[in-house]
Amino acid sequence: MSDSVDTSKRRFLTTLTSVTGGVAVAGVAYPFLASMAPSARAQAAGAPVEVDISKLQPGEQMTIEWRKQPVWIVRRTEQNIADLARVTGSLVDPDSDSSIQPAYAKNADRAAKNEYLVVLGICTHLGCSPQYRPEVGAADLGGKEWMGGFFCPCHGSRFDLAGRVFKGSPAPTNLKIPEYKFINNGTAVVIGEDNKGAAV
Ligand code: FES
Repeated sequence: MSDSVDTSKRRFLTTLTSVTGGVAVAGVAYPFLASMAPSARAQAAGAPVEVDISKLQPGEQMTIEWRKQPVWIVRRTEQNIADLARVTGSLVDPDSDSSIQPAYAKNADRAAKNEYLVVLGICTHLGCSPQYRPEVGAADLGGKEWMGGFFCPCHGSRFDLAGRVFKGSPAPTNLKIPEYKFINNGTAVVIGEDNKGAAV
């Protein structure tokens, strides 16, 4: 996969999603928020966000904002999914035993549906936002052993396409996975809420 994945189309998807969410919060929620107690206001500011993923193509990533943090949604290819098993020997915590994710994402793909990775785009070292680097074999990220993933430019942490950190990275744990659920026959995702209700 090349940098072509980072297309203007993808950026459009990202921007559209971010703008739509921002309008909804600013236009609808603010009068409500202003009348609430601080704790309730903070909770409402972290309200779940609904994201249309119907146009996301295999290999593409989109970024949305939730609780003022980036959340990535990556639609993995079948090859991406198969490649996850090839890197486990190079990972700090391949089974995500010491990492944060909902129970339905504690599996080999770290996902409720293996096709989609939904993950917080914040490095677990010191909080930078890593870059999406899907190109297999990237020379600067390990050459033929690199199956695609994320690279944090701040101090060089590397993560695979399930957000699992590679050995030798300063990040101590895998990227965090928020609560989420699919709706509308799988064409949309709600971030910040699963079938048990909104995360708090
Ligand atoms: S913040 Fe990502 S490697 Fe340090």
